[in-house]
Amino acid sequence: MYLGIDLGTSGVKVVIMSESQQIIASTNQSLSVSRPSSGWSEQDPQSWILATAAAFDDLVASHPEAIKQVRAIGLSGQMHGATMLDSTDTPIAPCILWNDTRSHEEAARLDATPGFRELTGNIVFPGFTAPKLAWMQANKPELFDQIKKVLLPKDYLRLWLTGDYVSDYSDSAGTSWMDVGKREWSSDLLAATGLDKSHMPALAESTESTGTIRKELVERWGFSAETIVAGGAGDNAASAIATGIVGEGDAFISLGTSGVIYAAIDSYRPLPESAVHTFCHSTANHWCHMAVILAATDALNWYAKLVGSGAADLTRALGDEVTAPGSALFFPYLGGERTPHNDANIRGGFIGLSHPDDQVALTRAVLEGISYAFKDGIKALEAAGTSLSRLIAVGGGSSSDYWLSLLATILDKQIDRPTAGDFGGAFGAARMGLVADQKGDPSVLCTMPTIEKSFYPNKALQDSFENVYARYAAAYSSLKDL
Ligand code: XUL
Repeated sequence: MYLGIDLGTSGVKVVIMSESQQIIASTNQSLSVSRPSSGWSEQDPQSWILATAAAFDDLVASHPEAIKQVRAIGLSGQMHGATMLDSTDTPIAPCILWNDTRSHEEAARLDATPGFRELTGNIVFPGFTAPKLAWMQANKPELFDQIKKVLLPKDYLRLWLTGDYVSDYSDSAGTSWMDVGKREWSSDLLAATGLDKSHMPALAESTESTGTIRKELVERWGFSAETIVAGGAGDNAASAIATGIVGEGDAFISLGTSGVIYAAIDSYRPLPESAVHTFCHSTANHWCHMAVILAATDALNWYAKLVGSGAADLTRALGDEVTAPGSALFFPYLGGERTPHNDANIRGGFIGLSHPDDQVALTRAVLEGISYAFKDGIKALEAAGTSLSRLIAVGGGSSSDYWLSLLATILDKQIDRPTAGDFGGAFGAARMGLVADQKGDPSVLCTMPTIEKSFYPNKALQDSFENVYARYAAAYSSLKDL
């Protein structure tokens, strides 16, 4: 048996997977995000441990025998978060999350510092880890001085699981402290934020063992003392393993809190100015290109809450058939945007509202706006030399036929939804545990899922969506000026 843990933004998901890669148990524990100021987004690292412990309690109660047979645990996690620990491994402050844009001034300064783009292959986005430390140094110097280690969220869970300070290449590539081509920490980049290599964890492959589980956890939940913990990956690279995205040009679209189009590439080809992220993949000597929008289902959930409904009810009310767009336009920039704008200050909005617009019309506008943001991402990927013909859809939003048909039409791509099952980070994490345990080949063990339904562009509607997309794209600079 293998256990996969995905530390997401809205919850911790833990699955148990058999040797034949069947999910035999799954549990979710929700997490909350605190937003003390506009653009801020924080979580208490202790809440990750409590949620994971509650998930283990659940699984032990429902599958006591399976827990004893777990040979390896894999980790997947929300990327970029700064978990800052003092000399007793106690967090000195809440973790500053991936969608926190408070450090935009520090990010712009580091981004303009020679070395950052050249070595990391990326823009220094405000959501990345290094500018958050620069913000701490400038704004909370007394806390900054206490920092002994900086860990990414899933690596803080690993510290609790094994007692080791280790990260993997895919997640570490999103810190802005790594030479992403060489896959190693850069002393120069660390020094630019007042840190050195002693503040960083050791680096490991996603599919190799990084240690064995601590005695306390063995005693509390009945794990075998030999259970290993694999390197794991950032949640996007973990979802890639879950969906068998391993070779050049394989790609998925994730409709989660953030929206991601992730393509595997087999050489290091950064193009920072496109705002495409170039990170290490979770397989050795491979990289990825990602277009990231900050609010995908996050924007839909925001709207659902506003109108006192659930996101699934809202999308269900649209039916399955996409029709020509209305006049209402929505911009999903609730907390700034990454690809292609790299703009922490831009904010969202509705424009073009008219009397007949009701809840259904605005739900459509929200889904269309998020889909146009993805189209911006596809264009950025193409500028970076990555053209895709088909995308596997994952994440909560992929259960909506309406949304996937709309995306196929707006993006002009075939979109494939896997047969019912879970192809997110937790399954990818369990697979990484299996590969680490069996010392196997990820490209053989991590196959693509069978496809339940494919969605194709509706050619008859494409011109009208293309016209509205042109309005959407043109409106960005007006919104910015406002
Ligand atoms: C990727 C990113 C998000 C988070 C969400 O760069 O910031 O997709 O990983 O968990």
